[in-house]
Amino acid sequence: MLHNQKIVIIGASQGMGFATAQLLANQNNELIIASKTKEKIEKAAKEIGKNVVPKELDFTDELSVKKFFEEIDSFDHLVLIGAGVPAWGTFTQFESQALKNAFNTKFFGYYYSAKHAVPHLRKDGSILMVIGGAARKAIAGTSGVAAVNGAILAMGRTMAVELAPLRVNIVSPGLVDTPAYDWMNEEQKQTFFKQMGGKLPVGRIGKPDEIAHIIEAVLNNKYMTGSVIDIDGGGNL
Ligand SMILES: NC(=O)c1ccc[n+]([C@@H]2O[C@H](COP(=O)([O-])OP(=O)(O)OC[C@H]3O[C@@H](n4cnc5c(N)ncnc54)[C@H](OP(=O)(O)O)[C@@H]3O)[C@@H](O)[C@H]2O)c1
Repeated sequence: MLHNQKIVIIGASQGMGFATAQLLANQNNELIIASKTKEKIEKAAKEIGKNVVPKELDFTDELSVKKFFEEIDSFDHLVLIGAGVPAWGTFTQFESQALKNAFNTKFFGYYYSAKHAVPHLRKDGSILMVIGGAARKAIAGTSGVAAVNGAILAMGRTMAVELAPLRVNIVSPGLVDTPAYDWMNEEQKQTFFKQMGGKLPVGRIGKPDEIAHIIEAVLNNKYMTGSVIDIDGGGNL
């Protein structure tokens, strides 16, 4: 069980990031949780209740990211689980600008965060980056999403070599029930989840705390680096 570690999680106001923060704070780790919206991250910290400090941070703003880490000093683990603005659609459907926006948000958000965290990370610690199943299986309508997440995956594996002994790992979830889907009404959302879950070997989509437990295990395992862990209900089979 991971405990007594200082951990920064960017993208922790809701969804899988929040579930991860909740789990790790309950195990007596010292957390700094960040996200773009001040009220949301403060509310998340209040709900977690202990071992947690909330910070407002837009990870697409490199100067803010640099300042954020300078204020933290040293720590053990960085978890990057913030969302970007994805470019959905088939290869010929999405606009070039949509793909640029997707890279400028998720890819560069992760890149700036990892880059400016490194000088502050303890060498026996780790970086964990959350990508998404589109980078692991060719699914029509997701080439833009695959490109961004695949770029993070490729960068992360090489980072593991360059930054050693610091460990760098990638977690790749499949569909998970998070507020990311709240743009649908409840009925549409449940129909969509049921439909998508029904196609998976496990027969349902994922829950945020299932991803949180994998993240905890990866942070805690000192023999693991450069690994890509799929947790997708068998979605990439
Ligand atoms: N849910 C899925 O089915 C699924 C599947 C595969 C992969 N993923 C990936 O897994 C990760 C977590 O997904 P999720 O569904 O749990 O996410 P989510 O519920 O949409 O939450 C996204 C988090 O990212 C933060 N964020 C967004 N833009 C940010 C920025 N510019 N700077 C800092 N923080 C920012 C949000 O902060 P605020 O709330 O403060 O704006 C929020 O905390 C994402 O990278 C997503 O792409 C998700």
